[in-house]
Amino acid sequence: MEALRAIADMADITFVRQKQTLGLGHAVWCTRRIVGDEPFAVLLGDDLMRSRTPVIGQLIDAAERYGAAAVGVQAVSKEDICKYCSLDVTHREGNVYDVHGMVEKPRPEEILSNFAILGRYVLTPRIFEILESLPAGHGGEIQLTDGLNALCRVEPMVAVDFEGERHDTGSLEGYFRAMLHFSAEHPRLAPVLDKFLQERGKK
Ligand code: G1P
Repeated sequence: MEALRAIADMADITFVRQKQTLGLGHAVWCTRRIVGDEPFAVLLGDDLMRSRTPVIGQLIDAAERYGAAAVGVQAVSKEDICKYCSLDVTHREGNVYDVHGMVEKPRPEEILSNFAILGRYVLTPRIFEILESLPAGHGGEIQLTDGLNALCRVEPMVAVDFEGERHDTGSLEGYFRAMLHFSAEHPRLAPVLDKFLQERGKK
């Protein structure tokens, strides 16, 4: 109960319902009145992070330091990048890159780099104007990536190769792996997992 109450005390929580399933870009656009005219964070709930500094905090730091929108990226394999997006970047310093363009769910010939955005963004309100008139993209959906591809041409945007381990809970296998990973570190669940594995091992 305490753990749940602590979450409710962290912030005022407001919900906006996306009444049609028109894509991530449309979902973000639906928040425009609540967000208003200031930078804001987007966190995709199916990308679960484990990091020393929260990944969104790493992005906020970069956004403030460079006066830019910031997206969280990691290198993914050539086989996997078609599930995400691919970024055209040049190295700036440390783990920070300047973003020049991006493509959603790239075909092999469209891959721009092995960096993909993994569910964390700090954006500027200009994205709402762009999303307003953005045509449907991959899968017939309004793609946030297409909006960011336009945003990075009119405003500075950096990609942060963030510190942290990311779990994709958007697939059954990824969800299961995340459960196992977090259970293995949980004081009550770790012994249950150990016992289960020992028992299975005996069979
Ligand atoms: C979404 C984004 C994609 C991003 C991915 C990260 O894709 O459209 O650009 O790389 O999240 O998980 P989806 O998971 O909705 O296919």
